[in-house]
Amino acid sequence: MKLLVINGPNLNLLGLREPAHYGTQSYQKLLESIQAYCLQRGHLVECFQSNHEGALIDAVQKAYFDKVEGVVINPGAYTHTSIALLDALKAVGIPTVEVHISKVEEREDFRQVSYLREACIATITGLGQEGYLRAIDQLEAYYAG
Ligand code: DQA
Repeated sequence: MKLLVINGPNLNLLGLREPAHYGTQSYQKLLESIQAYCLQRGHLVECFQSNHEGALIDAVQKAYFDKVEGVVINPGAYTHTSIALLDALKAVGIPTVEVHISKVEEREDFRQVSYLREACIATITGLGQEGYLRAIDQLEAYYAG
């Protein structure tokens, strides 16, 4: 598969950022483990991170023109606010898995809404960085039927 992994705001600060919620592994380590997993599974993967909503939307749109077959997205706080990102995912119709490193369902009320969820084939929460690899498994399962 040709995959795109998108990370939203503040996820570039993994390792530094609230380790009780997001662990101690850096964003760089996350990229390395995604690359290694995709190599092992025979997938082509690109990773993209931005702190800007519009840049994330541009990345989703570009994925369509680049013929990306699966998207893994951790939209960060835009999960709870971004109708525009939902619309972008709906527009391109690429099978997408939503990932959250922390167990969002056990956190604040304002984290209980995900605008993106309805455009996703699955949501993974609370597995730490491992969640991204499990999201790739979900996309594999989706295509395996
Ligand atoms: C997050 C959860 C969001 O509520 C938060 O704003 C993030 C990270 C997670 O990975 O657990 O930035 O998506």
